[in-house]
This record gives sequence, C-alpha cells and structure tokens, in this order.
Amino acid sequence: MSRFIKSPIHYMGNKYDLLSSILEQLPPKEEVSVFYDLFGGSGTVSLNVPYDHIIYNELNDNMVNLLKMIKEVEPQEIIAHIKKRIKEFNLNEEGTDTRQNIADNEEVREYYNQRYLEFRKFYNESEKDIKDLYALSFWSFCNLMRFNSNNEFNMPYGNRCYIEEDGIRLIECHNRFLEKNIELRQGDTFELLKTITKNEGQFLYSDSPYTASTAIYNESRAFGGWGIEEDEQLFKELDRMTSLGIKWAYSNVLAIKGRTNDHIENWAKRNGYTIIEFDYKEYSSLGKGNANAREVLIINYPQRVKKYSIFDFLD
Ligand SMILES: C[S@@+](CC[C@H](N)C(=O)[O-])C[C@H]1O[C@@H](n2cnc3c(N)ncnc32)[C@H](O)[C@@H]1O
Repeated sequence: MSRFIKSPIHYMGNKYDLLSSILEQLPPKEEVSVFYDLFGGSGTVSLNVPYDHIIYNELNDNMVNLLKMIKEVEPQEIIAHIKKRIKEFNLNEEGTDTRQNIADNEEVREYYNQRYLEFRKFYNESEKDIKDLYALSFWSFCNLMRFNSNNEFNMPYGNRCYIEEDGIRLIECHNRFLEKNIELRQGDTFELLKTITKNEGQFLYSDSPYTASTAIYNESRAFGGWGIEEDEQLFKELDRMTSLGIKWAYSNVLAIKGRTNDHIENWAKRNGYTIIEFDYKEYSSLGKGNANAREVLIINYPQRVKKYSIFDFLD
C-alpha cells in the first residue's frame, strides 16, 4: 500500500503516479525553509511533501476554492451534502455506476444522464455552493470542470459517480491540512516568482501545463493559456533562481503522442541542468487512446542516487 495520500479532487495530469520518483530527488527537510508548489493543481504534491511550510499556488480559482473548502469544512458535512444531492436528484451511485454494470444499457445510461443534467442545471441557476461544484465533478466527463463564458458549468455526463473511497480521500486530505502548514494561494505563478528576490532556503517545484498536451487547463479561454512562450518565460525565471542559488525541480514531458518538446531539452542542456528521465508511461488522454510520454524531472542541483536497503527487495 502506498504511503502517499490521494487528492480528493480527481484531476487530469496529477502527479500521484510519479510521487515517489519525484520526492526521492527533493532536498531533505532540514534544507528547505519554504516549499513552493508553483502550479499546485489537485494539491497532490503539496499534500505529500515532507516540508514544514508549503505554499500551494494555482491560477484556477475553482481548484483553490475547492481545496480551501476541504481544508476548512468538516469532511462529514461535505459527504452528507453529496449524499443529500444523490437522493434529491436520484444520481447514480456506487453499484449502479455505469462503468460497472449498466454501461451497455443505453436506456439506464440516458436516465442517469438526465438526472445529472438536472443537477447541473440546478447548480447553474443557484447561488453556486462550492459543495455542489465538488459534487458535480464526481459525475462529470473525466471528472473535469469547465465553464462557458457565462460562468455556467458545462461538462457533459461522464458515466461515473461518487464512491465511498472518495469520502476516505476527503477525510485524509482534511486531516493532512490540520497536521501541516499548507498555505493555499490563488494567483499567477509569474507574479509570485517576482516576489522571490533572494535565497532564503526556499525550494521551488514547477509542474506547469504541458505545452504539447490537450489538457483542459491549457485552454486560453478558461485559465490564461499556456504555450512555448510561457515555457520560455518560466525558463528565464528558473534561470534567475539558479543565479540566486535557489534550488528547484521542474516536471514536464519531452515527448508525448509523437510530438516533442525540443525547446525544453535544449534549455536544460544549454544550462547544464540535470535531466532525470522516468520510465515510459501509458497516458490516457480524454478517451482518445493512449500515448507514450517521455516524462522528466529537470533539477538545478546534483541528482540524488537512491540508496537501496534490504527491505526494498522484500514483499
Ligand atoms: C500539470 S497541472 C499541475 C498538476 C499538479 N501538480 C497535480 O499533481 O495535480 C498545471 C496547473 O497549472 C495551472 N496554471 C496554468 N497557468 C498558470 C499560471 N500562470 N499560474 C499558476 N497556475 C497556472 C493550471 O490551472 C493547472 O492546474
């Protein structure tokens, strides 16, 4: 069983599967005064790093507000709210999950689709309680959250539902927020980076949107957009941090779905940064099939070589 906790927010591109490979490259706790999770997303990294002071930063205010809710509201209250909505709208539940036993039954699927659309309509016409947005995400397509220009939630039904494990994740995450000092900050990373002007033992972790991917958070309309220009702007900032003596780690993909990110590899090589390549991983991209991705961690300090213990080889 993994020692890491999963974020209660299902989020495409979260770093859960790579956590142990990333964490073993990060500096020891004593060396880091503040850990900055520059592109925090689901909070997966912030929730699992060992540091005493963590600043989670994210541009998407929905994500930040959801994590604030999880931090501040008793998990039992959130779970009770979701269960109340399941009853009120007759949403499909664990056991009636269309991924399990009714996927082939078009009629049943359509019934639950209509129930979901009813709940979505209710949310869009209401005061927009954040607990309802959270609840909606369990039934939405790939658990994604997207809004139209009128700020109406417009994700279609996703053949999925809230399950008991989601409640457990919620409780674990809430408890982690109680145990650790994790500040939740909403804003543009580039603005945050401007405030860092000297080395005070900070460590920066960057998991910016992937230029070559089709993730929804890359859409310019929704979240500011991300492309090669933003990559280059971030490289300049990371180079500035290096000249201040501040350590950082940067996650990205050098290739995905037959596309390459040569500008990233060139930047890292030009500056003598260390490129750590992870094993090839199968990526499921919005139901469009799988693509092999060349996942890397680029760091501006020497790579740590894992020391094996006899226990690593025991079951
Ligand atoms: C690859 S995801 C991060 C995933 C995260 N590490 C996790 O484990 O869930 C990149 C995130 O950057 C956010 N983002 C995009 N542009 C941003 C900006 N200028 N400042 C801060 N966050 C930004 C996106 O909304 C998205 O959540």
